[in-house]
Amino acid sequence: MSDLLNGKVAIVTGGSKGIGYSIAERFENEGAKVIICSRNESELSDAASKLSCESYQLDVSDSQSIKSMVKWFSKEYGKLDILVNNAGLIRPGKITDTTEEDWDLQIKVNLKGPFLMSNNFIPHMAEKSSILNIASTVGLRAMRGAVAYCASKGGVVNLTKAMALDLAGKIRVNCICPAVVDTPMVDERVQAGNVSREVLANVQPIGRMGKPEEIAAMALHLCGPEAEWTTGSIITVDGGQTAA
Ligand SMILES: NC(=O)c1ccc[n+]([C@@H]2O[C@H](COP(=O)([O-])OP(=O)(O)OC[C@H]3O[C@@H](n4cnc5c(N)ncnc54)[C@H](OP(=O)(O)O)[C@@H]3O)[C@@H](O)[C@H]2O)c1
Repeated sequence: MSDLLNGKVAIVTGGSKGIGYSIAERFENEGAKVIICSRNESELSDAASKLSCESYQLDVSDSQSIKSMVKWFSKEYGKLDILVNNAGLIRPGKITDTTEEDWDLQIKVNLKGPFLMSNNFIPHMAEKSSILNIASTVGLRAMRGAVAYCASKGGVVNLTKAMALDLAGKIRVNCICPAVVDTPMVDERVQAGNVSREVLANVQPIGRMGKPEEIAAMALHLCGPEAEWTTGSIITVDGGQTAA
């Protein structure tokens, strides 16, 4: 560890577990002051005490709860250096069987969430700050049986590019597209009987799922001082999945 984020303040949405937890842990280890956010209060406070970091209970699809956080944040911290829009969820379903409710939920959390967080926090962001969106390889190429999830992640990819243009020279905006990463989200899909761990491992040419720390390593690069000329970039971290 090399203190790459010394003195920086970072918000990581969906930081109570999985990829968000690993990003928060890596950023803390690099000297950042991290605030994690998610909905489930007990999981959030357990994660915050394990990480010895701050937490704020938040639903990223709810603009009122974001506005309350902004008020609290600007009083407590003043300026924000890094915003990681990581919170997300999946409700599998084909075009023929996805309910309007499942469509709305995934678009609200996965796509409107990053918009609302960015829209509300940008006025409180420091010079040379950065935003990182976590999309998915299915934002670049679809998978069967997840129509709303694919649409939401495709939206995040192009939202990233549009934001990078609007904010060029002020705030860098980048996006990571992971393939399958071994997190509670994957456990849920396996437990629901949708798919096996073996199948999920083998959708990557490398033959295994990613580890959350492998996404955190790229997050650190994109949000750190070595990526100052990188904005509007969509980076796959995917065990070779999109090479095929
Ligand atoms: N794991 C994968 O294979 C994979 C692959 C590609 C992309 N991704 C993306 O990577 C991100 C993280 O995924 P993960 O696998 O780490 O998922 P995870 O293990 O299910 O964790 C998701 C996190 O997001 C939070 N969250 C969900 N809805 C929220 C909301 N409305 N407001 C605030 N927080 C919310 C969850 O906490 P609460 O439920 O308590 O709110 C949790 O902290 C997601 O955007 C996901 O789509 C994952």
